[in-house]
This record gives sequence, structure tokens and C-alpha cells, in this order.
Amino acid sequence: MSVSTVDACTSAVDAFTTRRLSAERVREGHFELLVGLFQDPRVAATLGGPITVIEAKDRLEENDRHWNVNGFGFWVFHDKRSGDFVGRGGLRRVRIEGAFETEIAYAVASDYWDRGLATEMADAMVDIAFRKLDLADLVAFTLPTNMASRRVMEKVGFRYERDIQHAGLPHVLYRRTSESRRYTTATPRASAGKP
Ligand SMILES: CC(C)(COP(=O)(O)OP(=O)(O)OC[C@H]1O[C@@H](n2cnc3c(N)ncnc32)[C@H](O)[C@@H]1OP(=O)(O)O)[C@@H](O)C(=O)NCCC(=O)NCCS
Repeated sequence: MSVSTVDACTSAVDAFTTRRLSAERVREGHFELLVGLFQDPRVAATLGGPITVIEAKDRLEENDRHWNVNGFGFWVFHDKRSGDFVGRGGLRRVRIEGAFETEIAYAVASDYWDRGLATEMADAMVDIAFRKLDLADLVAFTLPTNMASRRVMEKVGFRYERDIQHAGLPHVLYRRTSESRRYTTATPRASAGKP
């Protein structure tokens, strides 16, 4: 890979840092943060609606199982400087139309949107997937109308592959292989100047 986006990383990838963020494996103690994130109507709007407390507990348990089986899963991300919780992201084994894939997923607390944080999270997780975990490729998918998420995928080197059905809804599937490069642009970010 041409760009290394992870500053520091434990060998088991339980924790790592990026330029602005610190990431740690999702644990039970993060429950309230995650419920708050996924009950935020702006975040929930593209993720099938606000999560219930029972669903949040199920997801935590599932994430723990996933880490134990695969050696990776979801992380929570905090701002290194302020300590603020800014989002969660991860790598997850999923079955899509009969094929097993590894998905990259991210969600950022709405107060922190448009500062490049999802891109920073995704860049680091791609780096971990290819350089630490030796995965061959990754997929990402979202609702066709989720332009911010599609833009993040494109910025970190994913390319549109095909339309799929997920959770009974049409989604767009993007893919990135370990060989493909991160997208670079001469156009400055619309939000340039924000922290
Ligand atoms: C999608 C999400 C993670 C993006 O987080 P973020 O930290 O704001 O993302 P970034 O700032 O890194 O990048 C967002 C990009 O999308 C662009 N964007 C935002 N809204 C857009 C829109 N309506 N149309 C086109 N582009 C848009 C931004 O301008 C930016 O691109 P740029 O850097 O070229 O200017 C965030 O909106 C979120 O958490 N949404 C809810 C959860 C979700 O949908 N997750 C993805 C599901 S797969």
C-alpha cells in the first residue's frame, strides 16, 4: 500500500491510533455510547431506523463473538485531543447473495460529520485489513441515496461493483482489493478548514 494511515497498532489490532483518532475494540462498557449513536435520528436514517436497547445488546454480543472467531470486528473511535466519542467502525464477515465477504462499516456521530472522520476511520481499517490481517479484498454497501457514505467509499479506493438487496432493500455494493490504490483528488474538500 502506498499510504500508511495507522499511527500505532497492537499486534492483535484491538487498539490503534490515526492522526486524529484513537480506536479500541468495542466492549460492554461502550454500550451507552453505541445506543446514543444509533438512536440519533440522523445516523439511524440510513441504517434502518433507531436501534432498540435489546438490538444494541444483541449487537454487542454478536460483535464479541465475531472478534473471538475472526480476530477483528468493530472499534469505537474517540478524538485523541478532546477525548470525545466520535463514532464506530469495523470489519465484519457477512454473507452477500450466497458469498462470504468482509464488509467495512462506519458511522460517525452527527455533530462530527463533514470533518473527514469517516474517511480517516475507513482508511485506517482498510490499512489494517490488508496489511495486518492479510485480507484479499473488502466490500462496502449502503443505500443508493446515501451519498456521503458512497463518497467515503470512493475516497478510500472502493469502486462500485453492482446493485444488491440487503435487509430487503436495494443497496449499492462497492469493492476494494488489496492491490488497488486510494483515490486521490486535486479538488480540495468542500469542508476544508474545519478541524
Ligand atoms: C456516512 C458517514 C459515515 C460520513 O461521515 P463523515 O465523517 O461526515 O464523512 P467524511 O467527512 O469523511 O466524508 C464525507 C464526504 O461525503 C460528502 N457528502 C456529504 N453529504 C453529501 C451529499 N449529500 N452528497 C454528496 N456528497 C456528500 C462530503 O462532502 C465528503 O466528501 P468530500 O471530502 O469530498 O467533501 C456519516 O454521514 C454517518 O455516520 N451516516 C450515518 C451512518 C451511515 O450511513 N453509515 C454508512 C452506512 S454504510
